[in-house]
Amino acid sequence: MSKLVITGRKQLAGEVPISGSKNSSVAIIPAALLGEGTTILENVPAIRDVEVFVQILEGLGVDVSMNKNTMTISPNDFSTYVTQYDLVRKLRASYYLMGVLLAKFGKAEVGLPGGCDIGPRPIDQHLKGFQALGADVSVEGGIVRLKADHLQGAPVYLDMPSVGATINIMLAASMADGTTIIENAAKEPHVVDLANFINAMGGSVHGAGTDVIRIKGTRDLRGTEHAIIPDDMESATYMMMAVATAGDVEIKGVITKHLEPVVAKLREAGADIEQNGDFIEVSGPERPKPVNVRTMPYPGFPTDAQQPLTAVLTRATGVSIVHESMYDNRLGHMNELVKMGAKARVQGKTAIIEGVPKLTGAPVTATDLRAGASLVIAGLSAEGTTEVHGFEIIQRGYEAIVDKLRSLGADVQVIE
Ligand code: EPZ
Repeated sequence: MSKLVITGRKQLAGEVPISGSKNSSVAIIPAALLGEGTTILENVPAIRDVEVFVQILEGLGVDVSMNKNTMTISPNDFSTYVTQYDLVRKLRASYYLMGVLLAKFGKAEVGLPGGCDIGPRPIDQHLKGFQALGADVSVEGGIVRLKADHLQGAPVYLDMPSVGATINIMLAASMADGTTIIENAAKEPHVVDLANFINAMGGSVHGAGTDVIRIKGTRDLRGTEHAIIPDDMESATYMMMAVATAGDVEIKGVITKHLEPVVAKLREAGADIEQNGDFIEVSGPERPKPVNVRTMPYPGFPTDAQQPLTAVLTRATGVSIVHESMYDNRLGHMNELVKMGAKARVQGKTAIIEGVPKLTGAPVTATDLRAGASLVIAGLSAEGTTEVHGFEIIQRGYEAIVDKLRSLGADVQVIE
């Protein structure tokens, strides 16, 4: 266990470069196994989730190496379709190997992903998609076993625009016979990034970014080169830090389109935001205005930015209402913010936050990645010292966060 110790109330200022997207990387790294020959991925973030995926691929016998932010994957002679449970359980996104191994070998054995602190996270829509393509699916003893003598493209209508299900079905369909149509598909930026990657390998995916995606399968996908898109959620987190500390931060190397819902909401909260090419300048008022927000699938306000936003709203000049539509239990971090002097209460999936003039540093604990981000944001704006325990959880998704915070003038240190 390690903790991040923050001496707060420093206005952040300066420039921060944004790393490659975690959620795109954990989809594209397994997708590279579909291609014959070597794939080179640029702008891969050096984060724990990526490190775990490297271990998983090595466990499958794949030749993979990471040199700073460039990953080289040569799947040439790997042939196993059984993943190692002890590694898979560390990383929920390892379930993308179900779609990849099913496409490549016609069978897959992958451990069921654990739930986590934000609520039950079923994969029924993923399995429904695999069955539609002709796979036999069995789940027993915590292992998902898939088998298909022949994968045949088919229409799949998702009950909800699930990011994971959209990606997993796209992976399986990429090498199936014929065309698969995913309706009610997720439109997140990393769904589009994966579609572009599969097309660069010689695949045929059309409509990604809309709610109908057509995938025409092909057996001859080849290794390629691809740069991972910038991380929209890392960008949102640093924007929230700028507002929470009434600072003035320039976030560089972003795709501003991906941040539209976050920019709109922060402007509502009184932030000044200038967008110019691939950078966004954010400056916050002394205290933000209260806002109401309801998380929705893209292009709605992203659930992964909800927890960071609540940290900003603890010091608003009024009452904010935050509704978490996507998960049953993604407001647990509010208890930690209350320890820092926030005035908030949670009713079901809604947090009612009455802004206070200031927060006071305290020892708090990160229970999941974005909860951790919210506690860092609160610590940066609080008077005194905040200790964020469980810092290793934050390192899962935020590359070089200590260096980036220090370059913005934050007073932070990590204690193992
Ligand atoms: C992805 O999770 C992200 N993770 C999550 O980010 C993000 O919160 C989520 O999308 C929503 O944007 C990755 O991309 C690795 P979903 P995923 O399938 O794919 C329900 C982070 O902090 N559902 O869109 O699991 C599900 O329970 C992480 O980076 C089913 O019921 O999200 C949830 O309530 C946290 N059955 C809702 O849909 C299914 O088969 C959205 O889930 C699949 C999902």
